[in-house]
Amino acid sequence: MNKIRPPRATFHQLRTLEAVVRLGSITRAAQELHLTQPTVSSQIHELQSALDTPLVEPVGRGIRPTEAARLLHDAALDIFARWTRFEEDLAALHGLERGLLRIAGVTTTEYFIAQWLRRYTDRHPGVDIELAVDNRDAVVRRLREDDTELAVMMMPPDDLPLHSMPLMRNPLVLISALDHPWTRARRVPRRWLDGQPLLLREPGSGTRLATEAYLRAHGLTPTRRATLGSNEAIKHAVAAGLGLAVLSRHALADDPARDGVAVLPVAGFPIERRWLLVWRRDRRLSLAAQRFIEHVQAHPPDEAPTPAGGTGAG
Ligand code: PGA
Repeated sequence: MNKIRPPRATFHQLRTLEAVVRLGSITRAAQELHLTQPTVSSQIHELQSALDTPLVEPVGRGIRPTEAARLLHDAALDIFARWTRFEEDLAALHGLERGLLRIAGVTTTEYFIAQWLRRYTDRHPGVDIELAVDNRDAVVRRLREDDTELAVMMMPPDDLPLHSMPLMRNPLVLISALDHPWTRARRVPRRWLDGQPLLLREPGSGTRLATEAYLRAHGLTPTRRATLGSNEAIKHAVAAGLGLAVLSRHALADDPARDGVAVLPVAGFPIERRWLLVWRRDRRLSLAAQRFIEHVQAHPPDEAPTPAGGTGAG
């Protein structure tokens, strides 16, 4: 019969070795792990003698991991990943009493994402939520670097293997100050946008990307008046009469006048987009994330309020 030999290393030692190899320094590993340098050194020495193999060698005033240390580093990552899966399976056994849901949303989602999460946490009160709200490029970076499992956005990147689940509409409306002359028109031709002052979100914003794509597709060249780093800043600047802007309908109050802005009846607006829930196809999802997807499927989020005016194609 196959007898299992207990490993000659502890999880603590492996965790320390992982940090030392990744950071290439005892000092930096000690800082990251909140341990003293002698503790880190002695754990590495214990590992070396248990395995009877040198794991670090001196270079100059520092150290360099040996080839054996790199092999052990990769093995440690496999072991940790397997352990995480075990913990998830254990959570499944207990009916997801505990867990962590890591989700990122582009900035406009901050106007509604809390409501969805609320319904989910009502069902799974033991699950902690880590919600990151960033612009599109930052959310894409999180997906790329495994810094989030799920993301809500409208323009996922083409170069990542992603599943995407369409959610509700995301109409992008054109807004102005309340006293803008176009607010009194029944309909304004799209070409009137040429030469109009337009406020844009910062580079990296999905709203900006969608707006620029739309203007390009229709050969429109408004004057770029200013770049602002948030939806709220855009709303205030538009309300103050600095220019027009394209914004998700979700970023406005049910009655946009409460934000001091009006939705303009310009032909071709709103630009019809959709919110998507996306996740990596090449990663195993945590149970908390799987349950969230099922939850959203079973309870699709409400649609945006119907934009006042400007709904025609043109
Ligand atoms: P953002 O969000 O403009 O905050 O990046 C829009 C999106 O990418 O969906």
